[in-house]
Amino acid sequence: MGTRKRRKLIAGNWKMNKTPSQTKVFIEELNSELEGVHDRDAVICVPFVDIPAAVRTAKARCIAVGAQNMHHEASGAYTGEISSLMLQDLGVKYVIVGHSERRRDFNETDILVNRKLRAAFSGNMIPILCVGESMEQRERGVTEELISLQIKEALSGVEARHVRKLVIAYEPVWAIGTGMTATAADAQEVCSYIRAQLRRLFGAAAARSARILYGGSMNSKNAKDLLACPDIDGGLIGGASLSAEEFILIMEEAGRTPGYDGKS
Ligand code: PGA
Repeated sequence: MGTRKRRKLIAGNWKMNKTPSQTKVFIEELNSELEGVHDRDAVICVPFVDIPAAVRTAKARCIAVGAQNMHHEASGAYTGEISSLMLQDLGVKYVIVGHSERRRDFNETDILVNRKLRAAFSGNMIPILCVGESMEQRERGVTEELISLQIKEALSGVEARHVRKLVIAYEPVWAIGTGMTATAADAQEVCSYIRAQLRRLFGAAAARSARILYGGSMNSKNAKDLLACPDIDGGLIGGASLSAEEFILIMEEAGRTPGYDGKS
């Protein structure tokens, strides 16, 4: 018990960028560079319409395809929406849930995030749950309270066996797309706090297995320090993930920092 290693995970969040043809070219480049990689995971979260091209092209064993959102119901009268059933049928393994851009632009509440998260688990997909504070909240000193609430609400009713597979991305809102990265020390502090919350709510085994990523202006230059932190198991990369070269450099960096060995 507790000896499973947490593999490093580098997840790209393309947001509303790249067409299906561009997706094919990008993933072909990744295939050749990451062909022999077996000790860490790469997930590319692409726009819905790019999913078939991404799944068809991804050949390297470490590459999985993710979605950036989904509806919480499996089917029904929800015009314009996409369900976990559809994503799973296409071969999608991961789904980003509760990204701050969706919380901000589409009024995604913690309750909705919880529904989506549970739908992802019942659809056998791995959710990448995003949490994080705004600059104003950081300055007011409420980061921990806010994150604790986001986690508690998002994971309400979720079983510990599912939490073991969960990925949480700590993304301070003020660091997303701004070029202002959190320092490795600040990011580690919050990620360790997140793990402590998981331990409190779901027990030590679940907290040891869940992977916690940092996200917010991460790139090939600052990845080294962030990935060296004991509670940071990878990154959720926006802007820098649009360049195959950058993405590959970050994957290489992840290969240089060993994953958690399961001893504590
Ligand atoms: P960024 O985006 O790397 O461009 O800051 C991260 C994200 O939004 O997930």
